[in-house]
Amino acid sequence: MKHVELIRILFVSTILFVTFMLIMWFKTAPNYIIPILKEYKIIPGPFKYECQDGAANPRDSHTEIKKICAGNGSMWTGAIDFNVCEVKGCILEYNLSKSDECHAVMLQSNHLEDRFIPRQDEQVWIIVSHETPFTLTPILGNKKWRGAFNWIFSYQRNSDIFFPWGEVIAKTYIPKRNYSAIFDAKNGTAVWLSSNCRTQSRRDEYVNIMGNIIDIDIYGKCGNLSCRNIIRKDDPNDVCRNEKSIQYKFYLSFENALCPDYITEKVYLFYQYDRQIIPVIRGIQNADEFLPKNTYVDASKFDNATQLAHYLKVLGNDRERYIAMLKEKDKYTVDTIVKVFETAMCSLCAKLHDSFNERCIDTKVWKSQQLNECRNPHDLM
Ligand SMILES: *[C@@H]1O[C@H](CO)[C@@H](O)[C@H](O)[C@H]1NC(C)=O
Ligand SMILES: *[C@@H]1O[C@H](CO)[C@@H](O)[C@H](O)[C@H]1NC(C)=O
Ligand SMILES: *[C@@H]1O[C@H](CO)[C@@H](O)[C@H](O)[C@H]1NC(C)=O
Ligand SMILES: *[C@@H]1O[C@H](CO)[C@@H](O)[C@H](O)[C@H]1NC(C)=O
Ligand SMILES: *[C@@H]1O[C@H](CO)[C@@H](O)[C@H](O)[C@H]1NC(C)=O
Ligand SMILES: *[C@@H]1O[C@H](CO)[C@@H](O)[C@H](O)[C@H]1NC(C)=O
Repeated sequence: MKHVELIRILFVSTILFVTFMLIMWFKTAPNYIIPILKEYKIIPGPFKYECQDGAANPRDSHTEIKKICAGNGSMWTGAIDFNVCEVKGCILEYNLSKSDECHAVMLQSNHLEDRFIPRQDEQVWIIVSHETPFTLTPILGNKKWRGAFNWIFSYQRNSDIFFPWGEVIAKTYIPKRNYSAIFDAKNGTAVWLSSNCRTQSRRDEYVNIMGNIIDIDIYGKCGNLSCRNIIRKDDPNDVCRNEKSIQYKFYLSFENALCPDYITEKVYLFYQYDRQIIPVIRGIQNADEFLPKNTYVDASKFDNATQLAHYLKVLGNDRERYIAMLKEKDKYTVDTIVKVFETAMCSLCAKLHDSFNERCIDTKVWKSQQLNECRNPHDLM
């Protein structure tokens, strides 16, 4: 009796194990097996995208029209007029329902519904990302997506198409202001606006340490204060940012992760709409490539939060130096995100017309390479 029971259990578990192994094997089946499985309807649909290195696209005439199709996304800024571009032969459609007619397919990393969109061999697939590897969707590590993409469209300078969060440009007209009056109106030292407290950069701890030396008012979920009238943050009538810029000397623009080139709209918003405040950035280490010199303070130039706070204390009390920075900053403004997107789309259009060898991005490797490039916060204390 006992033996029969045991054999039954063994039998059932063997069946379960074999079924499990078969499923796992299908999921990792080599590419030549999948069409066979599909043919005999053993598996319902494709499991993964295939992408082959080496397929070349010959350079063509710049007038041939390339159709770029975009999936859902939060970063799109609307229609693009390619007539403003150097290479004009592109159209952009936010619709993938006829994706077989597209030369390029753009998908946003934060909107990768785990669905299958048919992929043509000669198409260029582009992953669009504004996220650091810490918040990048885990879906990209799935086998299915790992072979899907050829180009990267992101805030990283070395990506195939560079699409930063903003761009500082010179003002065409430099206003005259009474900077002494602006300085005198400031009765607060530093302000931090944040709703996302626990992050890779441990900015909340950093701010707390600074708070031992200078006064920092914290608005949003990470602090006690709240800013009234929070509307779209890129709106010129954002009363919160406008009022804080008048009242405080320093705005803490601290990123949630310490990764190369990751400098977000947080800081750009304070170069816009004539906001008279000095940003203090913490994130990238090559800020001079993104922001004009002597218009901001960079935390990466200081050993720790204490040292930075002491520096801000001195700078905030040095009327002449502070005003010199405000004046310098007042020579600049920020290009609209629409314009920045347009520039990126123009470079995508040119690239589609150029000759290229198709390259496959293993998105899992891409993510782990990025993780390696980010810094751990060594500057607390
Ligand atoms: C875009 O979003 C809509 C509505 O949420 C959804 O039905 C559609 O499948 C999505 N398209 C893509 C390409 O993800
Ligand atoms: C996308 O294109 C299809 C086919 O051309 C069309 O039927 C559909 O209405 C379009 N969707 C949107 C959101 O424009
Ligand atoms: C600038 O504002 C201050 C008040 O803070 C005032 O005393 C001064 O006269 C003003 N200067 C000019 C040139 O208007
Ligand atoms: C918030 O307010 C409470 C009591 O008013 C105070 O004890 C606390 O330190 C404040 N926290 C911050 C982050 O300012
Ligand atoms: C500081 O200035 C702001 C206006 O910018 C004002 O609303 C606030 O009451 C002032 N605070 C103090 C303590 O004077
Ligand atoms: C912060 O950095 C300064 C300058 O390097 C150093 O003197 C100080 O000991 C550091 N403070 C802490 C708490 O590590």
